[in-house]
Amino acid sequence: MIGMQLSDSEKNDEKVWYQKQSLKNTSSCRFSMETFPKYLQKPYRVYETMICRCGSSLQRPIQVLDLCCGMGEFTFLIAELTHGTVFGVDYSPESIQVAVKELEKRQLTNLRFEVGDVEQCQFEDGFFDMICMSGGLSYLNLDVVLEKICRWLKPDGAFIIVDTYGHNPLFNLKRQLNYWFRYTTKQTAAGIPKKPTLDKIRSRFQSFEIEYCGTFAFMGPFLRYLIGETYTAKLVDKLDEIFSSFKKYAFKFVFCAQGPKVQK
Ligand SMILES: C[S@@+](CC[C@H](N)C(=O)[O-])C[C@H]1O[C@@H](n2cnc3c(N)ncnc32)[C@H](O)[C@@H]1O
Repeated sequence: MIGMQLSDSEKNDEKVWYQKQSLKNTSSCRFSMETFPKYLQKPYRVYETMICRCGSSLQRPIQVLDLCCGMGEFTFLIAELTHGTVFGVDYSPESIQVAVKELEKRQLTNLRFEVGDVEQCQFEDGFFDMICMSGGLSYLNLDVVLEKICRWLKPDGAFIIVDTYGHNPLFNLKRQLNYWFRYTTKQTAAGIPKKPTLDKIRSRFQSFEIEYCGTFAFMGPFLRYLIGETYTAKLVDKLDEIFSSFKKYAFKFVFCAQGPKVQK
């Protein structure tokens, strides 16, 4: 089994944590690159680019599903980028409440948010042109969810993800410390996707394009004081290009998998 198989009580702990987060952050349901240091922004730029490119290549009004959408940080952005109809799903009612409030404020008609557990959700087969997810893979039982995603997508539909990669010992240590100091949840520290997860997803699609980012991002917090944010970001991004063979140790990955293979 690849991905997390959480017990009901672990799932509940996770949900409670995100509920608390959304109660704290009622005004931050809009994604902004500026909330990240420049040297950590690249994966999100790549995510945006993949969504835009895929949306425009489909050349039709599209239906998009944003899984584990939280407070809709990316859902609003995806709607802007694709001009499609976008559904955001998350199992935290408090997070969805924040997203719905923002939706009412903006009076957009092409977005919908629903409370739901991705592992239990039901959608019509072949309904979606694009399924996106940012930061949700750690929490899901991939065996269950991948099967559903492949069914929900149209034959030329795309699954686009940005998430954290789990092979770098330095980043993993930081994640473990974050968990010990209660800045993050157990699954966020323990369930980070690794290569077998990506291989499994790749095997279920006709095409798979992936970019690894931030292998050297661990230098960012120090370098920014020496050479400034902008040069630190340029250097960290350049080092990814030069030392691409170290991609296994990337901080994040972004992929666009297109053409689901549905198992008969
Ligand atoms: C790291 S947050 C990402 C939120 C948002 N996508 C973003 O990038 O800001 C992970 C989200 O996954 C949600 N989540 C975890 N397991 C889930 C499940 N089984 N079904 C639906 N949502 C889930 C949590 O409530 C949380 O909002």
